[in-house]
Amino acid sequence: MSPIKKKPTLKRTKKFKVTPTRKGAVRKVPKPGPNPFLKRRKEPVFDPELRVHPTPALLFEETAPFVMQVAREAVDARGRFVLALSGGSTPKGLFQQLCEEPVKSLLPWDRTFVFWGDERHVPLTDEKSNYRMAQELLLSKVPIPKANIFPMTDGSRSVEQAASLYEGKLKKFFGMQMPILDLNLMGMGDDGHTASLFPGVVQLNEVKHWVVGYFVDEEKKDRVSLTFPVLNASRVTLVLMEGAKKASRLKDVLEGPKDPPRYPIQYLKPTDGKLIFAMDAAATALLSRKP
Ligand code: 6PG
Repeated sequence: MSPIKKKPTLKRTKKFKVTPTRKGAVRKVPKPGPNPFLKRRKEPVFDPELRVHPTPALLFEETAPFVMQVAREAVDARGRFVLALSGGSTPKGLFQQLCEEPVKSLLPWDRTFVFWGDERHVPLTDEKSNYRMAQELLLSKVPIPKANIFPMTDGSRSVEQAASLYEGKLKKFFGMQMPILDLNLMGMGDDGHTASLFPGVVQLNEVKHWVVGYFVDEEKKDRVSLTFPVLNASRVTLVLMEGAKKASRLKDVLEGPKDPPRYPIQYLKPTDGKLIFAMDAAATALLSRKP
């Protein structure tokens, strides 16, 4: 009787998983493709959703309910709404609308926490203070607990110390994790800067710190600003622009070459969040592709 033939043990090659098709036969199967369940993280890009409103009044009237909706969704999902405000003149119109009914009563102010995306390094009472503008036009008119408001600087100490203190406040609030703002309200300067991150400054490439404080040569002023890692971690980044004065720079930024050191707003590439440009028609007048 012929000796019982030992069944060939199937040698698993590194490259191929082998499975017998017929008794003893071996079918080489192609190496499995990428795991469909591992969502490939898309490379963050500068690609704002453009929202155009016919007039400045409608820009603010129609954006206020959106802010309220983001706030309510944040509170429903996480029990709080973390908002960062910017300076400049554009937000004034939105602040006024946020104090109007029905938005004022529908926004969950008691669960709202307010930070700033940037600030001038001046006393809180200074006319240049972003905090003072927000306090006068919005925060003093809504039922937000004082303890929920986190001014960026009061102008004391050095601007670098102010930045590091604010970073400490963020670490305390966010439990040492990367701060994730539910809504980050921003603007664009006529030179394409955003927050207090100006063309050509080294702070554009800051990735170690969440907050920087430095002397802005262009303005001859000390400024404090969140850095792009934090700005880009936001769930919703809402950039408000209004008026013909923005039109030429907006065309450069949207239709010109990608040159973020020259146009820092092009560094806004949310990791997972949404980037929205909310504008009036005058600001978009020079765009070749009407949004
Ligand atoms: C600031 C800013 C700044 C502002 C733009 C737009 O404190 O100055 O936060 O980034 O958003 O300069 O300013 P306007 O709204 O006045 O156009």
